[in-house]
Amino acid sequence: MAVGHNVFVLLLAVICCIGECKKRNVLLIIADDAGFETSVYNNTVVRTPHLAALGRRSLVFQNAFTSVSSCSPSRSTILTGLPQHQNGMYGLHQGVHHFNSFDGVQSLPLLLGQANIRTGIIGKKHVGPGPVYPFDFAYTEENNSVLQVGRNITRIKLLVRKFFQTQRKEEEGRPFFLYVAFHDTHRCGHSQPQYGAFCEKFGNGQSGMGRIPDWKPEYYTPDQVKVPHFVPDTPVARADLSAQYTTVSRLDQGIGLVLAELREAGYEDDTMVIYSSDNGIPFPNGRTNLYGSGTAEPMLVSSPEHRERWGGTSQAYVSLLDITPTILDWFSIPYPSYCLPGTPTTPVSLTGRSLLPALVSEPSPSVWHTVYASQSLHEVTMYYPIRSIHQGAYRLLHNLHYRMPFPIDQDFYVSPTFQDLLNNTLAGRPTGWFKTLQQYYYRDRWELFDLRSDPEETVNLAGDPAHATVLESLRDRLVKWQWDTGDPWVCGPDAVLEDKLEPHCRPLYNGL
Ligand SMILES: *[C@@H]1O[C@H](CO)[C@@H](O)[C@H](O)[C@H]1NC(C)=O
Ligand SMILES: *[C@@H]1O[C@H](CO)[C@@H](O)[C@H](O)[C@H]1NC(C)=O
Ligand SMILES: *[C@@H]1O[C@H](CO)[C@@H](O)[C@H](O)[C@H]1NC(C)=O
Ligand SMILES: *[C@@H]1O[C@H](CO)[C@@H](O)[C@H](O)[C@H]1NC(C)=O
Repeated sequence: MAVGHNVFVLLLAVICCIGECKKRNVLLIIADDAGFETSVYNNTVVRTPHLAALGRRSLVFQNAFTSVSSCSPSRSTILTGLPQHQNGMYGLHQGVHHFNSFDGVQSLPLLLGQANIRTGIIGKKHVGPGPVYPFDFAYTEENNSVLQVGRNITRIKLLVRKFFQTQRKEEEGRPFFLYVAFHDTHRCGHSQPQYGAFCEKFGNGQSGMGRIPDWKPEYYTPDQVKVPHFVPDTPVARADLSAQYTTVSRLDQGIGLVLAELREAGYEDDTMVIYSSDNGIPFPNGRTNLYGSGTAEPMLVSSPEHRERWGGTSQAYVSLLDITPTILDWFSIPYPSYCLPGTPTTPVSLTGRSLLPALVSEPSPSVWHTVYASQSLHEVTMYYPIRSIHQGAYRLLHNLHYRMPFPIDQDFYVSPTFQDLLNNTLAGRPTGWFKTLQQYYYRDRWELFDLRSDPEETVNLAGDPAHATVLESLRDRLVKWQWDTGDPWVCGPDAVLEDKLEPHCRPLYNGL
């Protein structure tokens, strides 16, 4: 016995010497509704020195996409690696929307906890049920003001410090996963209009706004901002964007504080840091849409063990569905075998991939060239199922219930940009937008775009005979992914899914 034990200890020591036992932690930073308003993505106006510093220690992905353009669904996909239609979080979690993931989902925090990794969340959680998303350390909107834990960067700094202080007291060598979910740069006009359209006044020290001691607000004039192609170029939209930029400065300085805490606690050299956002920016054609403008995300992956490509960029197509596989790979944790309601007889498998190989060398463009997306609802009243595939130069969208008007969420409805668009449309004035409201509300069932010649996605090629082969091939791949991920919508809108015995589609003869 004693001899065996000693051999075991010796073996462990040898393995540790060659690096296998190296401590590894993860810091995941997710912004809220943030886009490419940072110098990391060549926006030369907005000042984001802390993201820029992180970018110099990261591989910067230029083709990263969310699989769903809505907050809770997206956060559920980040924390499970499963699309919304598979994990059950079809729409927003909070309030009357009431969506939750299936009880049986084996989420990232659950698997990490089982592997004795300490888990923490600071900021916006917005997913449930609680037992599916367990965290050892939790300061979220569930028992705090979301403004405090999500936008007050001094408070966030102190909570991160508290997490690291309690980490030291934990048993030696226990790794951690810390998820910091900022509420910036989300809109604010719907819930706290007194702080401005983006809560850009909250904590700025002016009368009635309170003070966030660590925040030095950065201000921009409407004529300075860069108007994305899908936002109307009007004075109102420009003023809206300049408010958004000010909240970017709070996000950026908050990220700087979090990274400084990580460094000061001595974890910088054994912690992988991932930065991204949940969905598109809250402007028309952005959030709640599966167009590129609603799904493209910033994505920075910084690994102290993979310095080869620090400061470099990758063209690989990656998805927020890749975050869970990447973190499981980092901790060498296998994905368990179990089933979910969508595929009751086939074990769930992750359709994303670990991003770690990309940190070593650029993946072959013929392999990392496809991402999928799936939207069902945002608010409970906003049913508009879309499935999409983006492969190489093409994006194909399937708008299942295309005869319904595209729904508008409350928070976006009251935004100055949308009110201006409504007013101008109603008055017959130029809107400064790249499409009409009528086009936005009523879409074709299939939308196919060639992003090389049409990056703004304005020419639908789905009906073009010259693109029939491309359309067919993308449609087949998209439907295959839907079957693989147990999508209850796989037969819609012209057939019904009969899933007893052998799942198959039965035609409805409804003329679609
Ligand atoms: C920013 O611009 C430079 C110079 O044109 C280019 O090399 C780089 O890839 C761009 N970075 C991103 C993230 O777009
Ligand atoms: C609420 O906050 C406490 C810390 O004060 C934390 O231990 C607990 O997990 C949190 N509960 C939830 C549901 O977030
Ligand atoms: C932000 O948090 C700090 C520390 O808890 C607090 O002193 C400050 O008053 C808060 N600011 C606002 C605007 O709530
Ligand atoms: C839109 O029109 C309404 C009614 O005339 C007006 O109250 C509102 O200020 C306008 N909004 C914008 C953003 O122009």
